[in-house]
Amino acid sequence: MKRKCFLYNLLLVGVASCAFTTSFAQNNEAKIEALLKKMTLEEKVNMIHGVSSFNSGGVARLGIPELVTSDGPHGVRIEHGRDWTPDKNVFDSGTYLPTGNTLAATWNPQLGFAYGKVLGSEAKYRGKDVILGPGINIIRTPLNGRNFEYMSEDPYLIAKMVVGYVQGVQSEGISACVKHYMANNQETKRTTVNVLMSERALREIYLPGFKAAVVEGKVNTIMGAYNKFRGQYCTHNDYLVNKILKGEWGFKGIMMSDWGAVHNTLEAINNGTDLEMGTDIGTPPFPYNKFYLADTVVRLVKSGKVAETLINDKVRRILRIMYQTNMIEGKRTPGYYGTKNHQMVAQAVAEEGIVLLKNEQRLLPLSRDVQSIAVIGENAFRKNALGGGSSQVKPTYEITPLVGLQQLVGNKTNITYSRGFKIERNAKADPKLIQEAAAAAAKAEVAIVVGGWVHGYNYSNWDDNAYDAEGIDKPDMKMPFGQDELIEAVVKANPNTIVVLMGAGGIEMGRWVNKTKSIVQAWYPGMDGGTALARLLFGEVNPSGKLPMSLPKKLEDCPAHKLGDFPGDSIALNYKEDIFVGYRYYDTYKIAPEFAFGHGLSYTTFEYSALTATKKGTAVTVTLNIRNAGKMAGAEVVQLYVKEQAPSVPRPEKELKGFQKIQLQPGESKKVTLTLPADAFQYFDEKANKFVLHPGKFQLLVGSSSKDIRLSTSIVL
Ligand code: BGC
Repeated sequence: MKRKCFLYNLLLVGVASCAFTTSFAQNNEAKIEALLKKMTLEEKVNMIHGVSSFNSGGVARLGIPELVTSDGPHGVRIEHGRDWTPDKNVFDSGTYLPTGNTLAATWNPQLGFAYGKVLGSEAKYRGKDVILGPGINIIRTPLNGRNFEYMSEDPYLIAKMVVGYVQGVQSEGISACVKHYMANNQETKRTTVNVLMSERALREIYLPGFKAAVVEGKVNTIMGAYNKFRGQYCTHNDYLVNKILKGEWGFKGIMMSDWGAVHNTLEAINNGTDLEMGTDIGTPPFPYNKFYLADTVVRLVKSGKVAETLINDKVRRILRIMYQTNMIEGKRTPGYYGTKNHQMVAQAVAEEGIVLLKNEQRLLPLSRDVQSIAVIGENAFRKNALGGGSSQVKPTYEITPLVGLQQLVGNKTNITYSRGFKIERNAKADPKLIQEAAAAAAKAEVAIVVGGWVHGYNYSNWDDNAYDAEGIDKPDMKMPFGQDELIEAVVKANPNTIVVLMGAGGIEMGRWVNKTKSIVQAWYPGMDGGTALARLLFGEVNPSGKLPMSLPKKLEDCPAHKLGDFPGDSIALNYKEDIFVGYRYYDTYKIAPEFAFGHGLSYTTFEYSALTATKKGTAVTVTLNIRNAGKMAGAEVVQLYVKEQAPSVPRPEKELKGFQKIQLQPGESKKVTLTLPADAFQYFDEKANKFVLHPGKFQLLVGSSSKDIRLSTSIVL
């Protein structure tokens, strides 16, 4: 209850402080013009490139500070000093939130807001102006090493979650930075690969999350991706930046590069890059004036080759965000760091985001009377906060699954621990470790194997990155380190085995999935992940997370690999699977995934009834009743999918167009209302070059997952 009130208060404060008035904005524009008039060309140019590892230049004589950025998406990164020399003796251990997948798996945009607010507050405490998150690239292939930072395969779910996150950060007066714009859907060759896709795939799948962040979330900054799109680098891509972002969507904030993503001065100037960061210019002391948007720009303007008005536009945008976030005038509210309240948000997200994939014979929840548990697997005691690349966080503490379980049961239950597998480069099944684990499992009432993916072998060392990590993709979907053999042996030794999977999802389970009674997808659940997991396993929390991506059976089933290209090259990486990403593909092409998009079990059951659909102008209102038919309070994510009956172009079997998370006491019923705006029925018509409605019949499918449709009706539009 206390937690609920706290989260509720967070939301109210946020909504009030979100409202920037028009006159505030107009006043700022006048001040910006006045400042611009006072600035020399050199001073302006100093503001549009990095002057240290994470800061861009200021103009001290005019009271314009440096803009201080920091990673990252699930916590403020450790200090890296001005020139990538780690600062010692600084207080930089704070809140480590669950990663992007976990947040998306809550299907709770209000938690997205609370999450963003924690980041904003902690960034402010640490003296940062911009937090380099959220990362919202579409999960196109399970192999992408950065999937753990991202949210979903579905543009609608991303759009709903990203708005909450961005508004949460910005309600603290700190800028969010939505990244990586766009089509950075793999790490292999990320700095050179040239992504090609149809205009329809771009509009229906890859852009909606970014558009929502800009148009609804009013995000202050956006980061260009490393890769090329249709032959031109994304960060200075005329179509993506000038035409779509700043043209169609009217973005008034800062378009910054990823670190080292600018490759050409003139393209960057002309095609909308406002701020160049992280360019590789050798070793310290770095000559920051050698950046593409530094001395060269001064020369080009002075020689008349570049109009100063183009530079003014970039500076104007930076100043605009500085005024909006009280960097030049005004006063910032205080930020807070590593507080109990922030930790509670981290735990709440983990508790709502961990997904119960399978639960046979009611093995879960475990009874508090369990006498003995064999905990198995190196992931049970491995810490993850510092892994994965630029999103690393130094946490105040990190409760691992083993510690979470030990703390929950205390002395009442005997917990043994066996390593089970070794996280090492090329580690194979170790018969001795497997034997020890199976023996421990045989002696215990229940066995819990904690396995899955990892953030590298030695994750504090970038060169040892592997699996869920920046700069590298997974080699395949097979469980590393001999975990298949381990799970098979443990399940054989003790049928009451629960498998807990850490990591970004997308892992082969074929060898043991049918033999295992209970499976839990735990992602990287943040600093209190172990606490949350233990509470879920023992039924102190009723699981309510739902998969934000399909979990395919094997790599060969995945559309990006079956129909499209991977990994491509600088000539072409063709997204031939087109709009058929994730469940849009599996459902339409009748390929059964291991676990479907939107799937997630509860310890209670929900009954759906009384579906209605009514047209109101161009919108359709859908209502239904949902009832908790079990004995435990719980939450259900009611999902609404739309299917066009007889489309004129190929359309997916179904598309998510609405959802709502509903809390219900045992026996309680609630009426759910979901509104579908006109665009919920449209597709992108390449000939007309716009979204259109093809008149006809549309099915409205309501269910507990994309596979588990409970009610349906139809409407003619
Ligand atoms: C990553 C970004 C990150 C930046 C700064 C890049 O390598 O792609 O996501 O924000 O580094 O650390």
